[in-house]
Amino acid sequence: LWTSSNIVDDAIARIREQVGSNKVLLGLSGGVDSSVVAALLHKAIGDQLTCVFVDNGLLRLHEGDQVMAMFAENMGIKVIRANAEQLFLSKLVGVADPEQKRKIIGNTFIEIFDQEATKLTNVKFLAQGTIYPDVIESAGAKTGKAHVIKSHHNVGGLPEDMQFELVEPLRELFKDEVRQLGLELGLPYDMVYRHPFPGPGLGVRILGEVKKEYADTLRKADAIFIEELHRADLYHKVSQAFAVFLPVKSVGVVGDGRRYEYVIALRAVETIDFMTARWAHLPYEFLERVSNRIINEISGISRVTYDISSKPPATIEWE
Ligand code: XMP
Repeated sequence: LWTSSNIVDDAIARIREQVGSNKVLLGLSGGVDSSVVAALLHKAIGDQLTCVFVDNGLLRLHEGDQVMAMFAENMGIKVIRANAEQLFLSKLVGVADPEQKRKIIGNTFIEIFDQEATKLTNVKFLAQGTIYPDVIESAGAKTGKAHVIKSHHNVGGLPEDMQFELVEPLRELFKDEVRQLGLELGLPYDMVYRHPFPGPGLGVRILGEVKKEYADTLRKADAIFIEELHRADLYHKVSQAFAVFLPVKSVGVVGDGRRYEYVIALRAVETIDFMTARWAHLPYEFLERVSNRIINEISGISRVTYDISSKPPATIEWE
């Protein structure tokens, strides 16, 4: 019988059997899958688990601190935070091509993760939040069946010379099962049912070249949008919502002066499988409130637009 408590017990027994008294390393992103793996491994093997959380400077407002608060402070999990914003941003200078940005962010992640890993001694296992759809997707990719439109850096991609055995306790589970498991393990509802966030983070939500100034502005706009979605009880009614930074300047008037400032686009979609999606028909009054707040509270933004394109042909992300 499938119940999430059976699954937890079963997974814990299997992890203990596989790992024994060895040390395990986990790359914690703060996303649902790696978070559930962290909670599960911690329950199974306690302090034998060490997590590495790479802050790439492309996370959402306060996200790094929240990850540390939840896992390190509340749950007592060993988490090493690698603050690598400067390295990521310096590698992205002058790079405007989305796939190039993905590659750089993915490779830099591996570089930092590798650095942190080599500082630890006697680690035998590497845990990953691979879930069943990832297994199918990457099997398809090998035979050329899957349509790899964007390189997703969270699947595979670890250097060949890393001498680890893999622990993948979610490998046979679908997303909704992973979520149930997360709840069973005591992770908060809001974390377990969070919208997906791409590995390259804000790096693909700032169109073209990434700059710290743009990221800081985008973080504030995105936080307002998400906060208002929660407040209006709309967050869980859409599948994914976020703000996008457009590095173009449009005109605005303040008093009798004209200002040329950047544009924020809001994106919210409804979808089952993320392969096709419909733009979410959010209420006008709601959009008005979000737009007013963004324009009033964030300097440098004087125009907000709402994306009314569906997928296909428009993708969910703008890059
Ligand atoms: P698109 O934009 O292709 O997005 O319609 C479909 C889903 O995939 C997410 N996405 C990514 N996730 N790395 C990720 O881990 C990526 O490079 C990436 N690109 C898109 C996107 O957020 C949406 O949920």
